[in-house]
Amino acid sequence: MSSRSAWRALHYSAKRRISQPTTPYRCFSCARQSLEQAKPDHERMTHFGFTNVPESEKESRVGAVFSSVASSYDNMNDLMSLGIHRLWKDHFVRSLNPGTPVANRDADAKDKGWNILDIAGGTGDIAFRMLDHATNINHDMQTSVTISDINADMLAEGRKRSIETPYYNTSRLSFVEANAEHMPHIPDASIDLYTVVFGIRNFTDKQAALNEAFRVLKPGGVFACMEFSKVDNPLFDAIYKRWNFSAIPLIGQIVAGDRDSYQYLVESIERFPSQEEFRGMIQKAGFMIPGRGYENLTGGIAAIHKGIKPIVQS
Ligand SMILES: C[S@@+](CC[C@H](N)C(=O)[O-])C[C@H]1O[C@@H](n2cnc3c(N)ncnc32)[C@H](O)[C@@H]1O
Repeated sequence: MSSRSAWRALHYSAKRRISQPTTPYRCFSCARQSLEQAKPDHERMTHFGFTNVPESEKESRVGAVFSSVASSYDNMNDLMSLGIHRLWKDHFVRSLNPGTPVANRDADAKDKGWNILDIAGGTGDIAFRMLDHATNINHDMQTSVTISDINADMLAEGRKRSIETPYYNTSRLSFVEANAEHMPHIPDASIDLYTVVFGIRNFTDKQAALNEAFRVLKPGGVFACMEFSKVDNPLFDAIYKRWNFSAIPLIGQIVAGDRDSYQYLVESIERFPSQEEFRGMIQKAGFMIPGRGYENLTGGIAAIHKGIKPIVQS
């Protein structure tokens, strides 16, 4: 581990140690009032679920949530989505078709495979699918994925799961602990495909992360994001919200013993921008938008957004 990432790891876990004892029980609605009263006038605020918090606090709060859910995360995903997240992830990966020749991006890319950066990659769900698809569908043994995540506990679960895969301990799979909003260790124009799945809604500064995505992608490289989104049918939306706000925190409490973290997860879904707003943010970062720019899944519960870094930049 480089001295910079060692420092980051220490700094991050120190922040968790400091922040957690001050918030032993997160009552989301009760906390809102006291936090708003306590905020200094000059500090910029952001949302943490339905609670407004100073921007400087959000990262450690999100960190505490994912450290808490890391060991139960994969089972909970199946329970909360009734297994549908697997179909969405399979579709996401198929639509990107990793491992095909990328002649436009790099003269010798065919021999090197794709250099994929899976941001907020957590327990490796997307990375393993990408590698399986490149290997089994496109017979490409070169494509590699870096799983990058801010949370050491989520990465530890990913590492544990990777032992069962053929990619364990090979140059095709690596893990990096980093904040997606600032990744100086990743060179400009070095990535063929940047993916972020169910991660970006947790970021403090989403636009900064999109700008970083643009910087690290090669010209012609693809940005692909799958995130919870806005349901277009009002009746379906009402049923979906009822499921989210009543069932998910309850399942979290019963299965993982952690109602608050799952309450945050559903609140953060509500706070995420609409499909059109998020497309505008991708465009603002400099990406070209293919077609409508997004594909709704299951009536808009989730959406896949894509952007392409222009080959010739204005
Ligand atoms: C809901 S999980 C998604 C994991 C995985 N992509 C999946 O679909 O199963 C969200 C992930 O985002 C990560 N995350 C949150 N804020 C981040 C940030 N600023 N930079 C990088 N990762 C972040 C969390 O640590 C967590 O692992």
